[in-house]
Amino acid sequence: MHPNQEFYRIQKLPPYVFAVINEMRAKARASQQDVIDLGMGNPDGATPKPIIDKLIEAAPNPRNHRYSLSKGIPKLREEMVKRYKRNYGVDLDPETEAIVTIGAKDALAHLLFAVIGPGDAVVSPNPAYPIHQYGVIMAEGHACMLPMPDPATFLNSLEHLYNTSTRKPKMILISFPHNPTTHCVDLPFFREVVALAARHGTMIVHDFAYADICFDGYKAPSILEVEGAKDIAVEIFSLSKSYNMAGWRVGFCLGNRKLIGALARIKSYLDYGVFQPIQIASIIALRECEEDTKKISAMYQRRRDTLVSGLTRAGWPVESPRGSMFVWAPIPEQYRALGSLDFAKLLMEKALVAVSPGIGFGPLGEGHVRFALVENDHRIRQATKSIQQFLAASPR
Ligand SMILES: Cc1ncc(COP(=O)(O)O)c(C=O)c1O
Repeated sequence: MHPNQEFYRIQKLPPYVFAVINEMRAKARASQQDVIDLGMGNPDGATPKPIIDKLIEAAPNPRNHRYSLSKGIPKLREEMVKRYKRNYGVDLDPETEAIVTIGAKDALAHLLFAVIGPGDAVVSPNPAYPIHQYGVIMAEGHACMLPMPDPATFLNSLEHLYNTSTRKPKMILISFPHNPTTHCVDLPFFREVVALAARHGTMIVHDFAYADICFDGYKAPSILEVEGAKDIAVEIFSLSKSYNMAGWRVGFCLGNRKLIGALARIKSYLDYGVFQPIQIASIIALRECEEDTKKISAMYQRRRDTLVSGLTRAGWPVESPRGSMFVWAPIPEQYRALGSLDFAKLLMEKALVAVSPGIGFGPLGEGHVRFALVENDHRIRQATKSIQQFLAASPR
């Protein structure tokens, strides 16, 4: 192989845009500058104590040191199914309609790998969480991106696509509360998507990573609440945000048994399941930590309020989201021509605040930056003051 020749799959994966900002942040911190990092959506809170206690109890047991089950231990799948019944009134069979995954990312990437073949079209809104686009590209599918200024417009474009395209999408990949745009939907939206997909023989994957991060009394619906959804859809749930367990790597794929079966088959070749003490501790999360989830969500709501009011005071009005752990901010008019990457660099350099450039979420993310609510109230207030000074000092 020629040394300059790129590997077949790697050449389809551009370098991570966020790496540029991460590097700047690391350099600034190395020179003792206090950067407020609202870049990556990496939860900063502690995992609830009962979960950690259970991990400590289960870890010394040699029985838990062996290979576990790729699809997850039965008790964990049963506990997840009970939570779906409790929270959404959805009935699932823990044996055939639920599988444990190594986080939502594993579920997404391997499900796409399992069911998407060369040229299969997968429709998703753009901007989006990068694996929604690149998981399709890695599986050699065709990532069909539709703009989502709001969920209703996305639905209209989807309908238009069905009416005009000769290539019917094989899959619709959606996620609400949405990263990065923070759009949220109610059950009638899911009813329409399911009806449309069912009519055209399309599968649906709903990434529900922010299921529990909802504000002001809003409760995000599960797509599985829609009657008949299980015939064509799966939902991906994650413990990362709901229980501050991002590093533990536990998620689920739930719903349609054919899709679950395909994912189970692929995973049986690839992994031996999550470390068993982590699975045992996850049972405690799902069974006993509902109140912690509410507290985590309330904390993000307070941070959202601090950020939104601070930015408004700084002369940078943004929409206040109903869910997710982000604020999606249109770049102030006078800086828009710079593009999101250069604007994010400028914010880092002049205000010492790290944000994610919208372009990192796909071409339709340009014109925005994303703030992640992952520093405390005090630090967020400090960030908005610093942004206010930056905007006031450098009018363009
Ligand atoms: C939409 C979305 N899906 C999935 C994930 C990853 O979840 P997990 O930690 O379970 O892999 C994220 C993380 O930021 C996300 O924003």
